[in-house]
Amino acid sequence: MAMIRKKGLKVFTFILLLVFLTSFFLNYAHTTTAYTWFPKQMVMHFSEHLKRLMKYPERPCGCSQCISETGLAPWFDERFNHTMQPLLNAQNAFLENDTYRWWMKLQRERLPRRLNDTFRELFRIVPSDVDPFLEKGPLVCRRCAVVGNSGNLKQSQYGRDIDNHDFVLRMNRAPTAGFEADVGRKTTHHLVYPESFRELAENVSMILIPFKTMDLQWVISAMTKGTINFTYVPVPRKIHVKKEKILIYHPAFIKYVFDSWLQSHGRYPSTGILSVILSLHICDEVDLYGFGADSKGNWHHYWENNPSAGAFRKTGVHDGDFESNVTTTLASLNKIRIFKGR
Ligand SMILES: *[C@@H]1O[C@H](CO)[C@@H](O)[C@H](O)[C@H]1NC(C)=O
Ligand SMILES: *[C@@H]1O[C@H](CO)[C@@H](O)[C@H](O)[C@H]1NC(C)=O
Ligand SMILES: *[C@@H]1O[C@H](CO)[C@@H](O)[C@H](O)[C@H]1NC(C)=O
Ligand SMILES: *[C@@H]1O[C@H](CO)[C@@H](O)[C@H](O)[C@H]1NC(C)=O
Ligand SMILES: *[C@@H]1O[C@H](CO)[C@@H](O)[C@H](O)[C@H]1NC(C)=O
Ligand SMILES: *[C@@H]1O[C@H](CO)[C@@H](O)[C@H](O)[C@H]1NC(C)=O
Repeated sequence: MAMIRKKGLKVFTFILLLVFLTSFFLNYAHTTTAYTWFPKQMVMHFSEHLKRLMKYPERPCGCSQCISETGLAPWFDERFNHTMQPLLNAQNAFLENDTYRWWMKLQRERLPRRLNDTFRELFRIVPSDVDPFLEKGPLVCRRCAVVGNSGNLKQSQYGRDIDNHDFVLRMNRAPTAGFEADVGRKTTHHLVYPESFRELAENVSMILIPFKTMDLQWVISAMTKGTINFTYVPVPRKIHVKKEKILIYHPAFIKYVFDSWLQSHGRYPSTGILSVILSLHICDEVDLYGFGADSKGNWHHYWENNPSAGAFRKTGVHDGDFESNVTTTLASLNKIRIFKGR
């Protein structure tokens, strides 16, 4: 009897220790949200994780379905390469020759403008090691909303649903102020290039998409001396983004989107499709809002009446039809959901 109780106590102590250690490591690795150190909260946190693990033992994530799961759709498996790293950091900051040549050609850059020096300078300014997106795992269910800029968001009343996601990704000049009921108020990540930059709230991560070397030099300049005020249009000299909130989209990932997903359609991928494919890699569930035309076939933005919007569909820079075929195919395979608005 005493033996059994002693053994039971040992097992109990062991489990308790396990709970604390696991909770500790799980939360130690989790830096995106501030964590308070209450034992009760830790135990609850852990049991939540444990429940998920028991419920979905073989999934790469804690949702009932995970995007990165392969073996369900050959079309997806042929295109999705989970080893591709979406973000640039000091360790992966180099380009293979073919990637380098392709990327240089995008904006017709002739000179290899000392890209390595630019990378080095860049990572003296922005964080060089953290990749918050890599903290995905079998215990986490990360739900993301990717919010495009289509006029189909008007009167959609999607705001609350959008805000209900872990990550909310927006792009280019998209505002939320004044449009909260339809587009939500939360943003965790905002994808821009220098020419489409807008000031962001201080808790929003900027994801810069570099289409040319100068875009990287612009980040350096905008965070320091402010020497660059013009690329092919005027750009802001200075930006008020904290350096730890700056992330850089990897040029090799742009080429991956172009090769694997767009099968070389258009000249290069749009910010919209770059955001969608990024989300496939960093999220477990993806909901798309504000993509495509509105019900009348218009391609304007939700915040303005720009009759020329959608002109890019004819210029051949981006292949809007092919890109939208990719997203609708992803939806038909139940990898993402598309909310069409009005
Ligand atoms: C996936 O990407 C890696 C580089 O990240 C590359 O080496 C590999 O060949 C790619 N796999 C496929 C099937 O394209
Ligand atoms: C890449 O290009 C450089 C210079 O053009 C050349 O020296 C190098 O051998 C190339 N590397 C590969 C893997 O082709
Ligand atoms: C840039 O650095 C990479 C390794 O990080 C190296 O392979 C490449 O040759 C360098 N290129 C130049 C032009 O120095
Ligand atoms: C970001 O800050 C705003 C206030 O400026 C706040 O309302 C919002 O909840 C914060 N968002 C997140 C994701 O923390
Ligand atoms: C950029 O700055 C230069 C001086 O440094 C100035 O002459 C020029 O007008 C500025 N251009 C724009 C677009 O602001
Ligand atoms: C995408 O395009 C292919 C061929 O170009 C077509 O067979 C397919 O039906 C299209 N898918 C969607 C969802 O539009």
